[in-house]
Formats: sequence, structure tokens, C-alpha cells
Amino acid sequence: MNLSQYNTLRLPARADRVIQIDSVNQLSEITAALGQTPRCILGAGSNVVLHAPLAATVLLARIMGRSIAEDGCLTAGAGEDWHTLVMWSLEQGYAGLENLALIPGTVGAAPVQNIGAYGVELSDRIKAVTAWDFKNKKLIRLNASDCGFSYRQSIFRDPATQGPWDQPRYLITEIELQLRPLANAQVEINYADLKSAFAHRAKPPSAQEVADAVIAIRRRKLPDPKEIGNVGSFFKNPMVSQLQAKHLSLLHPDLPQYPAQASHHEQCKISAAWLIERCGFKGARRGDVGVHEGHALVLVNHGGGTGREILALAHEIQQAVVAKFGIFLEPEPIFLPQR
Ligand code: EPU
Repeated sequence: MNLSQYNTLRLPARADRVIQIDSVNQLSEITAALGQTPRCILGAGSNVVLHAPLAATVLLARIMGRSIAEDGCLTAGAGEDWHTLVMWSLEQGYAGLENLALIPGTVGAAPVQNIGAYGVELSDRIKAVTAWDFKNKKLIRLNASDCGFSYRQSIFRDPATQGPWDQPRYLITEIELQLRPLANAQVEINYADLKSAFAHRAKPPSAQEVADAVIAIRRRKLPDPKEIGNVGSFFKNPMVSQLQAKHLSLLHPDLPQYPAQASHHEQCKISAAWLIERCGFKGARRGDVGVHEGHALVLVNHGGGTGREILALAHEIQQAVVAKFGIFLEPEPIFLPQR
């Protein structure tokens, strides 16, 4: 089975077979049938790099359903499309997800890497995650505080808790988010791009206006995976110590640095895109893969690229950034199979 339709980089990897999961009722039977044979989980494939054949059964998480209670508690099935959910929550009269508009992928994938954009992370809004536990063969509900969320990280992608790539422990089936009625919502517009979008306004924008601005910014900067294969940011923004950040800003005064999160106050996040652009990679092309001309953090497949070519380019970028700045760029997507 060719997986090129199941990953947004449109890489042509093969898998032994694919099983679609539409209901939690299938999980017990599938677990028994699979036994200890290799399996791996895919949502929309918008954060994976398939670089070799997958000797495994691919489980496509497609459990649907969404509802919202009057107090703003939104429940959504793992197979729902993330962006559709964001727009639907606003239509229902609830705010909180507007900064996360237009992020590609499914609801079930959102907690795995704790998606984040424009000053908001999923972990700021999530209440609980329900997952099938392959080890104990039952559904479990984890409170947000038990999910180990940090910058682009959670227990669902940490091998210490999730296990090896071909024996993942948890398959997310549903998430619960805590939103606010539009009438008493406070919007988050401190991120530079949003601040400048609303600089001329005396009154704060509505949540819908924030979503519209985020959509416009993303359309301007980031390639649409429907048009050109990509997985969004290919590297995380590296965290450095405050001391190293000072050292870097003396050498490179225009290197963007971001305020540290409360949980990492001794660290500072710096712009990976800037580092990559300064190494001359923006718009670079190696055969059919390359670096997007509009954003240096996004690797693209121009059509016939392979996962190996993507990894070779990523490696070339990492080497150049280490050589020039002494900083290691950690990839953001998950490489399958894992090496
Ligand atoms: N920049 C460059 N060159 C570029 C692009 C950006 O120098 O080609 C510099 C600019 O100074 C710009 C700064 O980098 O002001 C930040 O760029 P941007 O606002 O696009 O954000 P980012 O740090 O590159 C992160 C997330 C994105 C998220 C945006 C907005 C990571 C790895 N990426 O990118 O998330 O949309 O912030 O919040 O944290 C994703 O994870 O797939 C993703 C797209």
C-alpha cells in the first residue's frame, strides 16, 4: 500500500497494510488481531517524514464527532480536521482556538506535538485526552497535567512513555478543550505579526477577527500542503540559555529571540528560520526537494522528492547551522520508521 496520499509531504513510502479506525468499538478487536506485530498510527500525516518502507500496519485514526457544552467544554473525535473544528467553535459562539486556525492535521494529532502558533499552545486550552492504551487494552482519560506538555512535546511522542515507533502505547481517540463564550473572551494578540495586524485599532479585535488575521498571515507566509508538499516547520526553534542568548545578540543583533515561557524562565527561544536563512538556504533546491522561498523553516517536496532526499537536505541544513552558529536544530516532525 502506497502512503503518498496519507502524508502532506506526499512521500511515496509503502506500508504492509492500512486499517482505518472509525469507532472506539473496533479497538479491542484490532488490538487482539495485531498482537505484538508492528503497528504505527497516522492522523493526516501532516507532521511525519516517511523516509523508508514501513514494515508495519498503519492505523488511520478517523474517529469523528464533536459537541460543545454551554460552559465551553468542547469534545472532539481524533479524526476531525483541526482547522474545521477551530472555525466551527467560533461559529458556535466560543473563543480560544482562533490563534490556532489553519494548522493542518487532525484533532488526534494536535496533542502529540502540542501544536502552537501566534502565542497560544494547545496545552493552554486542553482539559483532557482520551486514548486507547494498547498495553492495558482499555480506554483511559488523562488530565492535561498528566500529558507532559511542553514546547512541541508530550507523552504521546516521547519514546520513554509512548514506546518505539512500531509499538506505540497510546492511540488518541478524543480530546476535551475548555473554551470561553465569545462575550467574555480575551484575545491573545501579543505575537509580533498579530500586533502589527491590529496596530491601527483602538478596540481589541474579536476572536473571529483574530482567526481571520491568523489565516491571512499563514496564507502569506506558509505553503499550502494541498499545493506543495510540506509539514510546516521542519525544525523546532532552539532553546538556549539566557547567557548564550546574550552572547548571540551581541554577535547578531537582528537574530529574533522570544520571551521564555514561565516553565523555562532560564531559557530563551531563538528563530530557527533566521539561522537557516543566514546560511543561505531560503529557496534552495536539491533535485525535487527544497526550502520554501517564503519561509526558511519549511522544507518542501516539489513533486517527485523522496523521504531520503528530505532527510539529506535536513542534515545539510543542520551541519551548516552548527558550523556557522554552533547550534543544533532539532527536527519537529516525526521520522518514520524511526532510526
Ligand atoms: N524569519 C526569518 N526567515 C524566514 C522566516 C522567518 O528570518 O524565512 C524570522 C523573522 O524574523 C520572523 C521570525 O523568524 O519574524 C519568526 O517567524 P514566524 O513568525 O514565521 O515564526 P517561526 O518562529 O518561524 C513558529 C512556529 C510555527 C508557527 C509560528 C507562529 C515553530 C517550530 N514554528 O514559527 O509553527 O506558525 O511560530 O506562531 O515553533 C509549525 O509548527 O509547523 C508551525 C508552522
